Amino acid sequence: MTAILVTGGAGFIGSALIRQLIEATDWRVVNVDKLTYAGNLESLADLAGHPRHVFSRTDICDRAALDALFATYKPCGVIHLAAESHVDRSIHGPGDFISTNITGTYILLEAARAWWSSLDPEGKAKFRFHHVSTDEVFGSLGDTGLFLESNPYRPNSPYSASKAASDHLVRAWHHTYGLPTVLTNCSNNYGPCQFPEKLIPLMIHNAVSDKPLPIYGKGDNVRDWLYVDDHARALQLVFEQGRPGETYNIGGHNEKTNLEVVDTLCALIDELKPRRDGRSYREQKISVADRPGHDKRYAIDAGKIERELGWTPRESFETGMRKTVQWYLDNSAWVAHVVSGEYRQWMDRNYGDRQ
Ligand code: NAD
Ligand code: TYD
Repeated sequence: MTAILVTGGAGFIGSALIRQLIEATDWRVVNVDKLTYAGNLESLADLAGHPRHVFSRTDICDRAALDALFATYKPCGVIHLAAESHVDRSIHGPGDFISTNITGTYILLEAARAWWSSLDPEGKAKFRFHHVSTDEVFGSLGDTGLFLESNPYRPNSPYSASKAASDHLVRAWHHTYGLPTVLTNCSNNYGPCQFPEKLIPLMIHNAVSDKPLPIYGKGDNVRDWLYVDDHARALQLVFEQGRPGETYNIGGHNEKTNLEVVDTLCALIDELKPRRDGRSYREQKISVADRPGHDKRYAIDAGKIERELGWTPRESFETGMRKTVQWYLDNSAWVAHVVSGEYRQWMDRNYGDRQ
């Protein structure tokens, strides 16, 4: 049976990708995740006991553990999502971003290269190392223009700098060693199972918890929102059909200011779970100090993946946001577990000894 390693599979995008791969292929999917605060196996509860989903609690900085996984499962490739992913955390403590995003990617590349080198010519030609990255490596846009794959790298935050460094390593491993890599840079994702530190789940959680909705600065920064299942489909496509050495931008064609996002969320929650006092959740918005070095605008030109691989997003901002709000309202237990630390204790009890 064909096997694939997915790193960061217990995270937000990784769990959506694993569901996509289990549904759309007959591959065995090996989920390689350290389970940091952001990793949550409850996001994959629907796959519990599934014969083609194998979970390994592994740190991508652990070379010996990675070598053992390659030798055991003999994968035809890797989709690498494991990372520290939150810009605000990277500002307060960049250390984990340097070790996981840069050193971890280096160690994974070396483990993948060692495995790939041992394959016969056919296996070598088929193998892919797919690195999942962000549009934030390109820096910030002004009022006009879109990010193209050919844009220069100008990362501004410790997070985006660490992702940019990892992208460069992947490029070099292809150019120098011939490792068949593909790289994707995508815009801001949203959807079910996103940790409630990021804008959309944080606002939904705070709204229904009677907490303020903190808008950084004027709320006029722009992000280009991509529904997570659209991203997962794109990742499978690039893994299967992308050309080695190429990079592909993935975006949702949904540019919105942060205020537009929060107002849309408030209107949806007003409709789906009205406040007891009959007023709008909009009244909970507050302006707070801006994020240091806050990038003004991100927007993706996703023309290359559309032209070459035929991918376009299926979800509009309106349909994706409605699904997302509904999911968070229906899954308050998931949110309560990830914010309370109860989940971490459960994990330590159940998986503390698992490496
Ligand atoms: P996430 O924070 O939800 O999940 C990250 C996962 O990686 C977690 O399950 C965590 O336990 C795991 N992990 C962290 N350090 C690890 C380590 N050392 N070894 C093994 N596993 C480790 O992140 P996400 O939002 O799902 O993002 C996934 C990838 O997509 C990241 O590489 C991120 O940079 C990229 N990306 C995300 C977005 C977005 O909007 N969320 C946009 C563009 C690119
Ligand atoms: P975020 O979800 O952290 O993603 P990123 O920084 O990777 O784009 O933030 C999205 C936007 O929302 C960004 O412009 C910062 C802003 N923001 C707020 O205004 N308030 C908040 O509480 C958060 C978390 C983000």
